[in-house]
Amino acid sequence: MISGAPASGKGTQCAYIVEKYGLLHISTGDLLRAEVAAGTENGLKAKKYMTKGQLVPDDIVIQMVKDRLEEADSQGKGWLLDGFPRSSSQADALKALGIKPDVFIVLDVPEEVLIERVVGRRLDPLTGKIYHLKYAPPESEDIASRLTQRIDDTEDKAKVRLQSYAMNVGALSSIYADVMQKVDGNRPKLLVFEEIDRVLTDLQDKYERGLTAG
Ligand code: AP5
Repeated sequence: MISGAPASGKGTQCAYIVEKYGLLHISTGDLLRAEVAAGTENGLKAKKYMTKGQLVPDDIVIQMVKDRLEEADSQGKGWLLDGFPRSSSQADALKALGIKPDVFIVLDVPEEVLIERVVGRRLDPLTGKIYHLKYAPPESEDIASRLTQRIDDTEDKAKVRLQSYAMNVGALSSIYADVMQKVDGNRPKLLVFEEIDRVLTDLQDKYERGLTAG
């Protein structure tokens, strides 16, 4: 599992993790945005909360994750859960499914940095790649011309998202204390990945030596 405040770099690090470890990336933010784009009933309901920067109600999110975990491509491969669980009730729902994370990575980034990252973030709708106008600028004019901005990527909405993160982080940290790995996310993204990579490699070694329960 990967967790952290809005714009702490979860999506950016997930791309590196997936490339190296071949895990299935399940991001509740991405799943919800896909529902909104498809205009489904859940998407229409979720949009009301997402545009205000608020958490989408548990009944929608938990069912959506359960459905995703039951799809054919979710079987036989490890998962990388991004942005879920986000509250103790969501953690309880996972526990009820018998799912316990091997590791709970928390990206730690100061609030003033997060706001700058939120407002400068841009997305490539064609490739799904995440950019930042200052820290990860697009490689060409062609890409720059098609970049989009998320509707919740304004300073005001980011503050609401940060508040909701702050309200829940304590509960999640204690639920997953035994598997939590805090990573300083306020460094260049490849340095952040080096540390995550070390954590995952150690975990893989432990599995191979039969030292974990999983
Ligand atoms: P979600 O999409 O999960 O948003 P979030 O948690 O706010 O996280 P972000 O996607 O904003 O940021 P990120 O950490 O992935 O950072 P990124 O890598 O893009 O959720 C959106 C909404 O959906 C929620 O507000 C809620 O309404 C709903 N939702 C989702 N899950 C839910 C749940 N479980 N329950 C209820 N509701 C839910 O990086 C950000 C920027 O910084 C980029 O521009 C990037 O290029 C740049 N950057 C990244 N790393 C670095 C670095 N090391 N140095 C400099 N710049 C960097």
